[in-house]
Amino acid sequence: MKVGIVGGGIVGLSVAWELVRRGEQVTVYDRDPRRGAGRVAAGMLAPAAEASFGEEALQGLMLESMRRWPGFAAELSAATGMPLGYRTEGTLLVALTEDDLTEVRRLVDYYLRAGLPVEPLRGRELRELEPMLSPRVRGGAKAAGDHQVDPRLLLAALRSERLPVTWVERDVEDLSSLRDDVIIIANGIGIGRLTGLPVRPVKGQLLRLRGAEPLLTHVVRGVALGRHVYLVPRADGELVVGATEEERGADTTVTAGGVLDLLRPAADLLPGVAELALAETLAGLRPGTPDNAPILGRLEGHPHGNVYVAGGHYRHGVLLAPVTAHAVADLVTKGSTDVDISAYGVGRFT
Ligand code: GLY
Repeated sequence: MKVGIVGGGIVGLSVAWELVRRGEQVTVYDRDPRRGAGRVAAGMLAPAAEASFGEEALQGLMLESMRRWPGFAAELSAATGMPLGYRTEGTLLVALTEDDLTEVRRLVDYYLRAGLPVEPLRGRELRELEPMLSPRVRGGAKAAGDHQVDPRLLLAALRSERLPVTWVERDVEDLSSLRDDVIIIANGIGIGRLTGLPVRPVKGQLLRLRGAEPLLTHVVRGVALGRHVYLVPRADGELVVGATEEERGADTTVTAGGVLDLLRPAADLLPGVAELALAETLAGLRPGTPDNAPILGRLEGHPHGNVYVAGGHYRHGVLLAPVTAHAVADLVTKGSTDVDISAYGVGRFT
């Protein structure tokens, strides 16, 4: 079977890899894969610390994908000989003031109700784990089951020449121009243009800071004076600081206000941030849907006859890549999947 995948980002390429492993012939169409949201992503694999109020329904899928991540990472590294920066230290939830701690405690209650492993910690206990945290930090929690991956290393591995995927460097404006037996649409915010499905861009600004030594071991998700931030340390001294969430259409301007909104809480929680080099400022566009859950399934009634959608992952594209790859490859090759994706069908928006 010849499968064409529109979109060479983390989601499209994860599906491509799963399909080539199953013996299918895969072509990926993307004029410039460096445009995707994955280039900007921080790479938190955090079903606990990235859980949000109102996203309870998504928890099952996030946990299922988390369960698949260690195997997915190990097999991709083995197949390509490339590292992914996979780390398993977990996330610390950190609150600066008593008010911030009230918010973190509500999150912790929510995680515990959802059955996620989270352990409340005092300020002193957090500083024992991360000595560079501010002495003003009041308390928080540890989510031990969260992991992280470096999305740029992940993208490089998924693009490895060792994976037998054919690349066509062009944008697809019209599906009728493709000759593949099956088409999978996985081009992030471009899904709306090709299908009419309601996928909107949600802007995220993010900073990459750099120092000689890592300031942190764990990923930190923090609240400081009501401002939210996450801090993702890499072994080489890079510290990723993210991310804004802005409903501004397809605008990718990095603004002074966006940088301030990230640096202020980052430096409140981790004062050493002020000494780091500001290496890169970026803005990406998350593909969001009306219910902020992904769209996974067959696009019924399309004249091509065999079109699937894999997208709309919003804040969770990296985390949900393995389960998306498995479920969509199942649908394409077998017509059904053992993953419960009944809540994520295309039909809910058509
Ligand atoms: N998952 C992190 C973000 O979307 O900013």
